[in-house]
Amino acid sequence: MTDALRLENVSMTFDEAGQRHTILNEVSATFAAGKFSVLLGQSGSGKSTVLNLLSGLDQPTAGKIWHGNTCLSALSEREQTLFRRRHMGIVFQFFNLIPTLTVLENVCLSLELNGRKERASAQELLKAVGLGTRYDTYPDKLSGGEQQRVAIARALAHDPPLILADEPTGNLDEETGKQVLEVFLNLTREQGKTLIMVTHNPDIVPLADEAWHLQEHRLQQRLR
Ligand SMILES: Nc1ncnc2c1ncn2[C@@H]1O[C@H](COP(=O)(O)OP(=O)(O)O)[C@@H](O)[C@H]1O
Ligand SMILES: [Mg+2]
Repeated sequence: MTDALRLENVSMTFDEAGQRHTILNEVSATFAAGKFSVLLGQSGSGKSTVLNLLSGLDQPTAGKIWHGNTCLSALSEREQTLFRRRHMGIVFQFFNLIPTLTVLENVCLSLELNGRKERASAQELLKAVGLGTRYDTYPDKLSGGEQQRVAIARALAHDPPLILADEPTGNLDEETGKQVLEVFLNLTREQGKTLIMVTHNPDIVPLADEAWHLQEHRLQQRLR
């Protein structure tokens, strides 16, 4: 089961040094269920902020975020955490791996948080992203691209219906990027998951079902 994601009149501002910065200005947008959407925009335009709002890790200054019929802001913090664990896989721009856990343990964590013990899916995903021989390595012994791939495997291990990925191929060489992209494309094309990906890669954009541009504090859907 996967749901459309909707921003309803969402505004986001940050106050810094007595100044108010507007990131989003009354944005309404719907990301289709079971589709692959790319989110484009200049550096600093607020792409990571949009993903943080969709996941509930940030709260909008105004407006609502809907996952199907569930309004995130109507849930308590605890309920939001559980909702996120069950429904979402998040690939953070800066990976956020846990340094004291091995590669395999990092990936298994999202399974364990959902009360699952089986390691096979974690191992399979690590193989799919080319890290099948690195289970017992700690994150600080990995390159940026390898850490990124662990973060991808971790986001997918618990089989969430929604994946939010922040420039997930940004640190990968062309060959590895292609391999990882295959994993992502499979999620929507064959498994019907909803995938929202921030990317600057012009080769990825034409593969998406929808392209959203973040510009002048608004989100607009354009032809790819
Ligand atoms: N927690 C925060 N506090 C203050 N400013 C923030 C915060 N998070 C993001 N910003 C600012 O919001 C703008 C958009 O950031 P971000 O969403 O990371 O952009 P992008 O991912 O498109 O590069 C930037 O100017 C950034 O400095
Ligand atoms: Mg960003």
